[in-house]
Amino acid sequence: MSLQQHPDVENFSEINHPLLKHKLSILRNKNTDNKQFRELVKEITMLMVYEVTNDLPLTSEHISTPLEDFDAPTLRDKHPVIVPILRAGIGMVDGFLSLLPMAKVGHVGLYRDEDTLEPVWYYFKIPTDSMQRTFYICDPMLATGGSAIATVDKLKQAGVKDIIFVCLVASPEGVTKLCNTHPDVHVYAAHLDRGLDAKSYILPGLGDAGDRLFGTH
Ligand code: PRP
Ligand code: URA
Repeated sequence: MSLQQHPDVENFSEINHPLLKHKLSILRNKNTDNKQFRELVKEITMLMVYEVTNDLPLTSEHISTPLEDFDAPTLRDKHPVIVPILRAGIGMVDGFLSLLPMAKVGHVGLYRDEDTLEPVWYYFKIPTDSMQRTFYICDPMLATGGSAIATVDKLKQAGVKDIIFVCLVASPEGVTKLCNTHPDVHVYAAHLDRGLDAKSYILPGLGDAGDRLFGTH
């Protein structure tokens, strides 16, 4: 897959792959129903996970094939931590777990107050024995960046050091704010969109990701 860097920030990559772009276009279509939306979010996440785990360190494990003994490459850390931002991030968890079945899952509960645009906390639970592991925050939407920054802040306060943020659609405003606030966090998106509307929804975007995943609109 090819990665495209953001012109202004080094810690942002857009993932460019024809399959991923195609599926994202179906996802955006307002006629795509909840069932298909959920399936597409999972498939797109799997394609992204393949790329964002590109530099995971390997070790080797001595195994016997039916023919001979062999030092086989295996993942050094089989238990990274996936942290969905509720609700919409939940839609990406299955895609992560399909490729990283041994991962642990933390949960961040916050929503964006639609008047102030400030994130409002209601839940935080992460595996406390995993601070040295890689944490993958997932949320389909990076709009103003408020929810993402609040989540990274909280994980860092808890002692987490290695954080990667994975979203489907990002706004230039959100990318710039998150990447500049946390230059040590690499941010991956399936697409960098044009901008935000007056209510800070991403344009062209895909609408309200949580509502489309769970049929609550
Ligand atoms: C959406 C989305 C992000 C946030 C992005 O969640 O899933 O978490 O908004 O906006 P921001 O970058 O401006 O903070 P929302 O608050 O609608 O909650 P939900 O997932 O429960 O619907
Ligand atoms: N949250 C969403 O679900 N969609 C947007 O476009 C912005 C925030």
